Amino acid sequence: MSAIIPPSALPTGRRQPAGLLSNQEKDTLIERAFLGLYRWYTSRSQETRNWNADKSFEWRQLRTDMPKEVTTILQGFFAVEQYAPDYTSELLRLVRASHGRSHFQLRWGSEEEKHADAWENAVLFSRQRSPQWIAEYKERLKSQQWTLPFPDAIHNLVYTVFQERATQLNYLNMMNIAQGKSTKPHLVGFQDPVLAKVAQTIAVDEAAHYNFFLEGVRLYLYYYPQKTLEAIKNVISQFSMPASHLVPDWEQFYETVYRAGVYGPRDFSRDVMQVVFRNLGIEGRKQLEDGIKATREVPTFEGDSTQQTAIWSSFDYGLVEGDVKRLHVKIEKYEQEIGFSELDPTEFVENPEVPSHAPSESEGDPEHE
Ligand SMILES: [Fe+2]
Ligand SMILES: [Fe+2]
Repeated sequence: MSAIIPPSALPTGRRQPAGLLSNQEKDTLIERAFLGLYRWYTSRSQETRNWNADKSFEWRQLRTDMPKEVTTILQGFFAVEQYAPDYTSELLRLVRASHGRSHFQLRWGSEEEKHADAWENAVLFSRQRSPQWIAEYKERLKSQQWTLPFPDAIHNLVYTVFQERATQLNYLNMMNIAQGKSTKPHLVGFQDPVLAKVAQTIAVDEAAHYNFFLEGVRLYLYYYPQKTLEAIKNVISQFSMPASHLVPDWEQFYETVYRAGVYGPRDFSRDVMQVVFRNLGIEGRKQLEDGIKATREVPTFEGDSTQQTAIWSSFDYGLVEGDVKRLHVKIEKYEQEIGFSELDPTEFVENPEVPSHAPSESEGDPEHE
C-alpha cells in the first residue's frame, strides 16, 4: 500500500467523470473502507460472538466413545488452528501500515486462538488422547513455523477468502456429523450435542471472517480489477489448506476427512470456489481465465484504455459495485450511530473507469448484512 494521503485530500465523489483515480487515491479509499469495516466488525464480534473456549461448552458432557475417525478429524482441526500465532504475526507484518487491516488482524487472531483452544479441549475431553500425548503433539507442531503462502498482500487476502470458506465448510460438515446426519456407514448413529455446538460456534466465526475478507477482495476487485482477477486465478491454481505441509499426520487426516464426507476436491470446487466466484460476480474458472487472457492479448500503448475495457467484460462489475456501495451504507450507518459521521465520514467514491451499466439483478443480495 502506498503512502496515506490526509482525509482532506480525499476525492469527494463529485469529481469529473473524465478524471481517473490515481493509485494513491484508490489505496486511500480502500484503506478507509477497511477501517470502517473493521470498526463495524469489532463491535459486532463483541456483541454476538463473545464466547469462551473453556466456559461456553459442557466439556464433561462430550462423548468419550466417539468413533476413532471423529477423533482423528478433531485432532486435525486442532493442529491447523494451532498455528494461529504464526498466521496472525505473518499477516500482520504484511499489513502493518494499515490501521483497519492490522487491527483487524489482531482481532481475527484472538478469534482463531479460541478455535485452537476449543478444538484442543475437544480432543482432550474425548479422552482418546492423553494429556501427555497432546503436549508432545503440540510440541511437534510448534517446532515448525507457518509462513505466508504468497509474497504480497493482495494474493494473501484472496487466499484467506478461499481458506476461511473452506474452513467454515469443514466445521459445518462436522456439525452435521455430530447432529447424527451422516450417512457414512462408519458414522451412522453417532451423535454428540456438545461437539455439534462447538463446531457450529466456530463455523459462525469462520463465516464472519469469510465476509470480512470477501468485502476486502470486492474493494480491490472494484478499484483494481486486473490485478485482483490475476491474484484469484493464481490462488485457485495452487490452493491447499493452511499448514497442510506442517501437520505431521496430514495424509491420514485428509483421508479421514474425505471418507467422512467433511471435505474433498469436489467440495472445494462446488462449495468453496463456486461460492466465492458467485460472491465476486465471476461466472466460472474458464471465464476468469479467458477474461485475463483477453486483456493480455490487447496491445497496450501509453494512454490507451483498451486493456481496461477488456477487463470489465470478464466479471459482473455491476454486482461488485452494488456490493461495495452496500458495504459503504453499512459503514455509514455505524458511523452515524457512533458520531464519526459528523467528524470524519467514510464515503463511497465511484471508480470512473467502471463502464455505466444497468442495475444488476442481484442488488439486494440477502447474504448481505
Ligand atoms: Fe479458525
Ligand atoms: Fe477463520
